[in-house]
Amino acid sequence: MVDLSVRINDILFPNPVLTAAGPNVRTGRLMRLAAEGGAGGIVAKTVSRKAAADARPTIRGVALRGLVNSETWSEIPVESFLAELVEAKSAGVPLIASVGYSPEDVAVLGRLIEREVGPAAIEFSTHYSGNDIEPLLDVARSLREAVSLPIWMKVSPATPRIEQLAIEASKVVDAFVAINSFGPVLDFDPAHPAARLGTKDGSGWLSGPPIRTMALQIVHTISRVQTKPVIGVGGVEAGEDGVKLMMAGASAVQVCTAAIRKGHAVYGRIAAEMESWMERYGYSAARRLCGVYKPSATDPAMSYIMTVDTRACTGCRACISHCVQGALEMREEKASVIPDRCIACGYCQDWCPTEALSLKEQKQ
Ligand SMILES: Cc1cc2nc3c(=O)[nH]c(=O)nc-3n(C[C@H](O)[C@H](O)[C@H](O)COP(=O)(O)O)c2cc1C
Repeated sequence: MVDLSVRINDILFPNPVLTAAGPNVRTGRLMRLAAEGGAGGIVAKTVSRKAAADARPTIRGVALRGLVNSETWSEIPVESFLAELVEAKSAGVPLIASVGYSPEDVAVLGRLIEREVGPAAIEFSTHYSGNDIEPLLDVARSLREAVSLPIWMKVSPATPRIEQLAIEASKVVDAFVAINSFGPVLDFDPAHPAARLGTKDGSGWLSGPPIRTMALQIVHTISRVQTKPVIGVGGVEAGEDGVKLMMAGASAVQVCTAAIRKGHAVYGRIAAEMESWMERYGYSAARRLCGVYKPSATDPAMSYIMTVDTRACTGCRACISHCVQGALEMREEKASVIPDRCIACGYCQDWCPTEALSLKEQKQ
């Protein structure tokens, strides 16, 4: 039996797959459906002091199961959104409200939501709060002063100096959420070369699998430089994606795009896949995944060369046909490295079905 539960800021989540702020959690009804679909916690759509009014269309599909969107924050005015949050609070899993964007906005909204709803924590989005660290820290400090609940800082991937931000903000916030969607980006159909989103230039924000590696990197960076928990978000659509984000340093994950694409049962499906993965690989509890990723296997001061384990090599030639340097050849039915051509880039390893290739230190 795998223990899927995770604890963040003393909030107990039955499993580590939470919703992420987006259209999938726009109303109380949708938030309840997410909980019924197996989400371990509900993060609500971001609300600001003024209701949003987004030009249509706001969500379109792009390659690799990604989305581009131009949805800003809740179009439901905060006075009405409070009732949606109250409804979501009865869903049976912890509720996290989400607010933005100026120091004044988050203070007013934080106080109101703490008093009228009493969620488990408040996440604040920094997506439209400024382009440098100081304005983002001002927002964090303002919310910190306004509420006594745990506060989670949601980081946008385009934020400069994320390491520095994490170090400074960790003195103020209780957890980080990384990442928001990436952009702005542009996509269109060449057969109909016109805007696909309602923004002025048709640009939007990218989410889903195309941003997964960016999320892994930023989660890893934030968790490495400070000690507050990090919640990973970006491209999680299967159990293994969640496992990887947790190994990179996350204490839980959030899901938005996969829920838009596949519906509210996706949260429970991802959690079940994480559980099967952990059973298979001998992890007794989800919390044990956190931070097990080990960076840097090689020594930058050493020089390396690719080597072939001839017992494992099946002579399939996949490495030979994919080496851009032409540094592999067949010898006696096995792959063999041509030392003066090999630059030890490592790419051939991706093509070997039997793990016969490995980098070895080269004697000078
Ligand atoms: C249509 C859409 C609307 C979103 N709205 C919000 C929002 O209101 N607040 C927020 O913090 N993030 C918002 N996000 C970002 C997601 O919460 C998430 O951080 C991002 O999409 C990456 O996760 P994913 O790849 O699972 O979608 C939105 C994303 C999408 C696709």
